[in-house]
Amino acid sequence: MQEIKIYKTDAPKAKPTGALGFGKIFTDHMFIMEYTAGQGWHDPRIVPYAPIELDPSAMVFHYAQEIFEGLKAYRTKDGSIQLFRPYENANRMNRSADRLCIPEIDPDFWVKAVSTLVEVDKDWVPYEEGTSLYIRPFVIATDPMLGVHPSKTYKFIIILSPVGSYYAGGLSPVRIYIETKFVRAVRGGTGEAKAGGNYAASIKSQEVSESLGFSQVLWLDGVEQKYIEEVGAMNVFFKIDGKVVTPALVGSILPGITRKSTIELLKDWGYEVEERRLSAAEVEEAAKAGKLEEMFGTGTAAVISPVGLLRIGDVDITINNGEIGPLSQKLYDTLTGIQWGRVEDTKNWVYKI
Ligand code: PLP
Ligand code: COI
Repeated sequence: MQEIKIYKTDAPKAKPTGALGFGKIFTDHMFIMEYTAGQGWHDPRIVPYAPIELDPSAMVFHYAQEIFEGLKAYRTKDGSIQLFRPYENANRMNRSADRLCIPEIDPDFWVKAVSTLVEVDKDWVPYEEGTSLYIRPFVIATDPMLGVHPSKTYKFIIILSPVGSYYAGGLSPVRIYIETKFVRAVRGGTGEAKAGGNYAASIKSQEVSESLGFSQVLWLDGVEQKYIEEVGAMNVFFKIDGKVVTPALVGSILPGITRKSTIELLKDWGYEVEERRLSAAEVEEAAKAGKLEEMFGTGTAAVISPVGLLRIGDVDITINNGEIGPLSQKLYDTLTGIQWGRVEDTKNWVYKI
């Protein structure tokens, strides 16, 4: 495996005090390596966090040949630091890479790059309840070229950001509305890849949702605009009449690692989990019949995020009186318990730094 050279900053920044929010503060260092066709990935190094220089014609600026990941490092009560299922992120990044014609990265090296950078910036992993160090690995196409084709050069960069909760209200239930005008992804598109372009296409709806007092939108399928897909930064689950239903991974939905972990936990606890097509109409019917017991989103940034109000067309559905349901709470406690080392990791999900 290639050696990662480390060049430490001689001007470390002051650590933040007060509420962290999400993704606004960056640590002292970043990881960077380059890819050149014929040579492969080379020159892995950790350097002081700083702007990077790119040619204005770099392909990423024009055709969005870019992919990213998101995971977190958690501080346990004995002061140690751990990651949650990092190989899942490494492997998903390679699947995204394949879809975007980006060269893959050896998963062992990927995890080594992440953990070495976290180790270098370990003092930035916050201690306060509910906080963590968000890790953002990404790859950009850097060829200075305006023809539409796969780039022959890339940069793989990892940056770190100490974070609190993604939503301003923390674990309080969020308000979500179902987007009926725009779509995020279609089958055969890039929806199941973690590609920046997917998010660019979602910003307009996000803006509208925030202006109406909602946290995010829930996307419907891109063909019939009938079936539930996912929320802006989370997969979504519904507890209907005792069973848990989540949209199947049909190609246009991000295969979330929190989603996968949630399904495993629910099955361990004896819940029937259905991964299938679920229409907005079915959710509305279930709510009318008093059978929609809980709804929650899952994601690295969002963790488990209960949904207290869902708008479908002009109907507002209040779920569980707008309060956190018992299953959402149990999932939150268990997942965060494992992540922060408070609950025994019987599933081997934790990766110690
Ligand atoms: N769906 C979208 C669109 C996302 O951006 C995310 C966040 O990464 C998720 C789902 C949840 O995925 P994960 O649980 O792997 O963070
Ligand atoms: C994550 O949960 O890691 C995400 O990538 C969501 C993000 C768009 C903030």
